[in-house]
Amino acid sequence: MAVKEKELSRRRFIKSAGATLAVTALSAGVGGLLTGCSKPEEETTGGANGQTVEVTWPLGYKPLNPDKAEEMAYNSYKAGNGCAQGVADALLGLAAEEYGAPYSYIPPQMFNVGKGGIVGWGASCGALLGAVFFIGLVAPQEDQAAIVNELMAWYQQASFPYYKPSDMEFKQTVADSTLCHVSVTRFLQENNLEANAPEKAERCGGLSGDVARKTVELLNAYVDNQFTAVHKPQGAETCTTCHSNDHQGKDNCVTCHGEVDEIHDF
Ligand code: HEC
Ligand code: HEC
Repeated sequence: MAVKEKELSRRRFIKSAGATLAVTALSAGVGGLLTGCSKPEEETTGGANGQTVEVTWPLGYKPLNPDKAEEMAYNSYKAGNGCAQGVADALLGLAAEEYGAPYSYIPPQMFNVGKGGIVGWGASCGALLGAVFFIGLVAPQEDQAAIVNELMAWYQQASFPYYKPSDMEFKQTVADSTLCHVSVTRFLQENNLEANAPEKAERCGGLSGDVARKTVELLNAYVDNQFTAVHKPQGAETCTTCHSNDHQGKDNCVTCHGEVDEIHDF
């Protein structure tokens, strides 16, 4: 029974992969994957062309150009696609451009909902969502956590944005958190800006570029057997000596709870 179900879902996937192949060809004709401007009607009328393709996970990673990834993510963000799709456009889009299938079967548009920490909820930074699911797509499970941990800890401590292609002026800020809410709000506070300020879009576009670049650098090192973790989560150690088992999370405790002596009498 279980086997039969597996068969079925695999067949369904293969069928839709065939449909996507047609889609990719079509949307490439109207400006490629990066623009994200292929219309849903075109996607559905692409139709199955009878081709079937074996897709096995993990897809495997082939080296990408970090400069290109950075620029593609920024441009996609600035085109209105948000941070999560911006990063996915850079990673999946670049992999598709360089290596074609199977990367080209996955529409980066699926990540659009990640923007604003999942459609504005301020949860995980959407740029990280675009990145970590790509890592989950290309790297085997036993190696994912190390790469993702490094990316998350780096993000927590990074002074965003490093990529600043415009001449807009604002301070780079350290989020001390992987949450969109904290990351963006700190930036706004320290720059005395409102959330709809053009500087905010410039910052999150640049940050998307930064996260895409970092992800490519980490994965390039990983496939080259050069990956080493150099970042550790900060702001949790002082708490987890005692609080080891009563919460979930690795992010900086102090950003929400305050310093030890603000919470405790000891
Ligand atoms: C020396 C051990 C120790 C350290 C270090 C420590 N805690 Fe605690 N924490 C405790 C104990 C003990 C309690 C009380 C538990 C209880 O009463 O249920 C507590 C309670 C709390 C509570 C619940 C407070 C409440 O009102 O119920 C929070 C939140 C908390 N700690 C957060 C933190 C954070 C954040 C840090 C690091 C900045 C931290 N703790 C560091 C031992 C510690
Ligand atoms: C994004 C904000 C945020 C971060 C980061 C965070 N917490 Fe919390 N934590 C909360 C909230 C909100 C609650 C629920 C508080 C409540 O119900 O009063 C909570 C509850 C707790 C409690 C339970 C308090 C109780 O009443 O029993 C402990 C212990 C705790 N956190 C420890 C930590 C530790 C340790 C870290 C760092 C690894 C951490 N928290 C990181 C927001 C955060």
